[in-house]
Amino acid sequence: MVISVWWTRRSFLNLLLYTSGFVPACWSFWLGVHDKLGPDPVRSFEHILGLWAFRFLLASLAITPLRIVSGVNLTGYRRAVGLLAFAYVVMHVAAYIALDLRFDFVTLYRDITRRPFLIFGMAAFLCLVPLAVTSNRLSIRKLGRNWRYLHRLVYVALIAASIHFLMAFKTWHVNAIFYVLFGIGLLSVRGINFLWGKRVHRRIYAE
Ligand code: HEM
Repeated sequence: MVISVWWTRRSFLNLLLYTSGFVPACWSFWLGVHDKLGPDPVRSFEHILGLWAFRFLLASLAITPLRIVSGVNLTGYRRAVGLLAFAYVVMHVAAYIALDLRFDFVTLYRDITRRPFLIFGMAAFLCLVPLAVTSNRLSIRKLGRNWRYLHRLVYVALIAASIHFLMAFKTWHVNAIFYVLFGIGLLSVRGINFLWGKRVHRRIYAE
């Protein structure tokens, strides 16, 4: 009974997370349709989606550091946050291809092979694809330990997405720097915790 109440609460919160996670996309779409996204609505829409993709990516990576630092355990919501990040990346790329390039795949190919900031964006996107595809119980069971190794690609995705974000502007952009520093902070907490764990492990076995 206790387990079923807990399960229901977690499922409900996950559902809430998925639905509220799409609010920024729907809201900016609505603003775009009503011509309220400023002088360059396509670019603004693309930027909003990219920014939320980055925010959700950071949020999914913040769950473990949050547990390490404060003891608050939100691991049950990591999959939802990670999938939201992926959904926003897909919408960000779709907006670029459909609204910006108008399905001009020749320009797309030229852009993603020649423009460095798009090469990094594409690398981040390609890292996230296998993670999204294997974010289900069946894959976790089938891949076993390899699932954890595969999901370390999220660090590569964050690094590539950070470079993409920083390079998206012609000059140093305070907002981008702030987000990237936050990402470096998250990776540092994980790194320190990993090295600390190894030290403790070595000490236990030495005794
Ligand atoms: C994990 C993958 C990705 C993330 C997290 C991401 C995120 C971002 C962010 C945060 C921005 C800057 C938004 C702002 O102005 O505040 C941006 C810009 C942009 N991104 Fe991405 N992106 C990703 C992948 C891609 C891919 C694969 C493409 C296209 C193939 C792409 C195309 C663009 C374009 C065209 C811009 C606008 C640059 C400009 O204004 O000239 N992104 N992206």
